[in-house]
This record gives sequence, C-alpha cells and structure tokens, in this order.
Amino acid sequence: MKKRIVSGNRPTGKLHIGHYHGALQNWIELQDKYDCFFFVADWHALTTKYDETENLRKDTEDMVIDWLAAGLNPSKCTIYRQSDLPEVAELSLYFSMITPISWLERCPTYKEMLKEIDYKDISTHGFLGYPILQTADIVLYHGELVPVGEDQLPHLELGREIVRRFNYFYGQYFPEPQAVLSHTKRVIGTDGRKMSKSYGNSINLSDSPKEILKKVQTMITDPVRIKRTDPGHPEVCLVHGLHKIYSADHIDEIVKECKSGKIGCVECKKLLAERINESLVDFRAKRAELEKDPGQVWKILEFGAKKVRPIAQETLREIRKRINIDG
Ligand code: TRP
Ligand code: SF4
Repeated sequence: MKKRIVSGNRPTGKLHIGHYHGALQNWIELQDKYDCFFFVADWHALTTKYDETENLRKDTEDMVIDWLAAGLNPSKCTIYRQSDLPEVAELSLYFSMITPISWLERCPTYKEMLKEIDYKDISTHGFLGYPILQTADIVLYHGELVPVGEDQLPHLELGREIVRRFNYFYGQYFPEPQAVLSHTKRVIGTDGRKMSKSYGNSINLSDSPKEILKKVQTMITDPVRIKRTDPGHPEVCLVHGLHKIYSADHIDEIVKECKSGKIGCVECKKLLAERINESLVDFRAKRAELEKDPGQVWKILEFGAKKVRPIAQETLREIRKRINIDG
C-alpha cells in the first residue's frame, strides 16, 4: 500500500517558475511513488481575499491548467477542489472547538502576515483559523505525508497538536501527518526579491519566449561589471542564480567565462532565456491544448472530488459517532 500524500495550493492563477521549482516539480515526482491528493485550496484563498473573489474561478482554472501542462497526471494522482467537499468545513468546525486561540496566535506566519498586510483587515476569525482548516484538509483523507515548503512547517506542527488533542478527547483515530521537505530550489525574482506575483517580479510558466527574454534582460547582474571584458562575480548575479537551475550541465563553464570576462552579460542573458524557453516547449504545447477547452479542467476537478468524497464521508461518519452527534 502506497502512503497517502495530501497537499494543496491557494489558487494564485498562472504559476511562475518559483512555484514550479518550489513545489510542482516535486509533486510531479511524488505522483509516481505515493497515493497523491493535490487540491486547490480555494477556501484558504478567502482568508485574505474575501473582498476580491471575482477571479476565484479563473485563478483556479489557470492554476490547474499549469499543473496539468507541467505534468500532473489525473490518472496517477487525484486533483480536486477543496470547496467541492463540504466535509472539510465540518471537520474544521470540530477542530475549531478544541483548538485554543493562543495556539493560533502563536503561529509565526499569522504574526508576520498581520504585520505585512496593512492595506486591509485580516484580523478575522477565518484568517486566524487558517491552520485549523489546513489540518482538516489533510486528515479528512487520512493524509500521512505532506510535502510543503519550510514556511509551512509551523502550520503542520500546529496541525499535529490539534490532531493529538482530538485523539485524546475522542479516541485514537487520526494519524499525525508528517511534513516532507523536498529538495526544492528557491527562485529569486527578477528584481532580487523572493519571486512573487504581488511583487511583479516573476517569470511565469505561461510567458511567451519573447516575454521571458524581456524579463531576463531586466535582471540585475554584477554591479561592478561595467565593460564587457571586466571580470564578473557570478555569485552576486541573479542571472547566474537561474543558470544554476536551467544550465546545470554547463554551469562551471559559464562561471569560468564570466569570471574571466569572456562572456558578456547580454549574451549570458540570451543564453539563459534560451534555456528557460527550451525547458518549456512541452509545457507550452500542452497548455495551448488545455486552454482550448477549459471545460476539461473542471471535469478533472469534478472527477477528483467524486473520487475523494467517499473517503471524506466515511471520516465524518466515524467522527460524528465519536463526538456522540450520531448514535
Ligand atoms: N497553506 C498552503 C499554502 O499556502 C496551502 C494549503 C492549504 C495546504 N491546505 C493545505 C498545504 C494542506 C498542504 C496541506 O501553500
Ligand atoms: Fe551574471 Fe552572466 Fe553577467 Fe556573469 S556574465 S555577471 S553570470 S549575467
């Protein structure tokens, strides 16, 4: 029996290469080895975007198209949408009864986000309870392993505490989910900050070759390199950072040519853009196909929901008995 993996992403619309190297690439590998459940966390999106829901469905569609085009295969893994399974809300409600507020307030991501998001009020019940819903997402389907980035570790630890407390009150039932930290690569945006849609510094998987070249051309290189023949310092250069990912097979050569002033930054950037574009050839073909008929995407999500529904219902049947709601 393969172990079950559960992981989700808020619907952010079109994905960038940071999403790909940070999570998606890993998911694609995991789908061959585990019983994988991957879902669109659209309810989680509401925790911060409750006042801008007009693109919720389009963002869901765009993200799932990117998942599929990149290689998630619905015949190998299960892809669904969180909100298609109301059972997760019910389980989340039970968890909310036993989770002390102090546990939630202690969560570092909560504290950071409260500080960071100053343009709207996110001191809501829903946002505070984000990790409760996340815990329900996982254990509703008896997820054992959760591939997440490092930033999500506090949520997972909190989830384990909630599960422990639940098992203490109502009898051992849920397994405590474990994080799997993957060999992910952090991708820096074109301006040197973390790659993020909201910073406008991202290279999207769905960008055209021209757009990618243009974005790469704006990237900051070695600031002390003025003339083409000046020796460069690749370790401080963003272009080099991406070459490490996209030109891994000849990275030593690039470093040597940069350091000896043999290659100019213009040429080096052109090479990088070419490499990124080469890596996206299959992706683009598949994406174009999916874009023609987005109805397929919704069918895949419905199919996934249908598949996981019996598991969710069985969990709730058991839980309602344990809580003595049902006899
Ligand atoms: N918090 C995750 C993120 O922001 C999304 C998420 C929601 C998730 N529920 C989950 C991840 C359950 C793993 C398991 O990316
Ligand atoms: Fe960066 Fe390439 Fe220029 Fe070196 S040659 S500084 S690696 S862009």
